[in-house]
Amino acid sequence: MNIEQEWPEPVVRVQTLADAQVIPDRYIKPPTERPHTSSAPGGAGSVPMVDLGGLKRGAAERQATMLAVSDACRHWGFFQVVNHGVSLELMARMREVWKGFFDLPMEEKQAYANSPVTFEGYGSRLGVKKGAILDWGDYYFLQLFPQSIKNYDKWPSLPASLSRETTEDYGEELVKLCGVIQNVLSLTLGLDEGFLHREFGEAGAGLRVNYYSKCPQPDLTLGLSPHSDPGGLTILLTDDHVKGLQVRKGGSWITVEPIPDALVVNVGDQIQVLTNGRYKSVEHRVVVNEATERLSMAFFYNPQDDLLIHPAKELVVDGTSPMYKPKTFKEYKLCMRMLGPRGKMLADAMEAT
Ligand code: OGA
Ligand code: NI
Repeated sequence: MNIEQEWPEPVVRVQTLADAQVIPDRYIKPPTERPHTSSAPGGAGSVPMVDLGGLKRGAAERQATMLAVSDACRHWGFFQVVNHGVSLELMARMREVWKGFFDLPMEEKQAYANSPVTFEGYGSRLGVKKGAILDWGDYYFLQLFPQSIKNYDKWPSLPASLSRETTEDYGEELVKLCGVIQNVLSLTLGLDEGFLHREFGEAGAGLRVNYYSKCPQPDLTLGLSPHSDPGGLTILLTDDHVKGLQVRKGGSWITVEPIPDALVVNVGDQIQVLTNGRYKSVEHRVVVNEATERLSMAFFYNPQDDLLIHPAKELVVDGTSPMYKPKTFKEYKLCMRMLGPRGKMLADAMEAT
């Protein structure tokens, strides 16, 4: 399969459209996909919140905390965590310095324009299909792990406050948090603590900083279309004040309420496969608003590219069968590119028959 070298048409930065009266047709979603027509208010609850500090507060509380994580992954695919061990000062600094990047003059940002070959750099679309309807957001994507594929040429050196060290320190802290969550998820499946860690091999990680500009007609578009995350675990640092992320729960879209100092955790497709569907990779999307921009940072923690990911044999018992075919994460990403971003067809596409 050919990997496209360039975008199919000139890239427009959403940030340059924020002050217009109306949005270009390219961003207008079909009526059924617009934010308000597809949300059913109330009744479905809210994304669970877990105090991870409970893991260190004695056996009973540890057990209850692990159960809360496990329940959230089974029923929501999403939860927020507090007392997660990541430095709050570092979280604040990351927000500030990356906001500084998007505040740079356009010519300076354009020096980092990305291409569909690796997606690393400053981007404004994911899909490579010509004429596609676009999302109302710009981003910066970087590969952090494994070290062997980290390419500093793609990292911004402006603004001066945006040092490599800040982003790397943050990445290292998040890898630790992912390790804690992997252990909890393994234990609550009745497996040994190291199960997911081993299945991930030499894990990879990327950082996607999302910048959703304010939008003159937020009811007609989305900041990010519905999708499930293809990798292992995602840890999202959301905007302190501005809402936008919505999680699918049955037929409703539930808005994630920003909690100060919290991080949002979600299960990706590879964990759904490894756990034979016990833990769910759930669709989510981002809505935008007329009043203000929103910055979020998604840290994607993924299994090694070339290891076969398949349902754990310990979880395929009592007459059940594996729900997914073995695939490496690399193959999985290729399939996704061919199918294009289409909500939650991704994990489903590899279901064994
Ligand atoms: C993502 C994502 C949510 C957000 O980058 O995959 O789902 O709130 N981001 O920006
Ligand atoms: Ni996502």
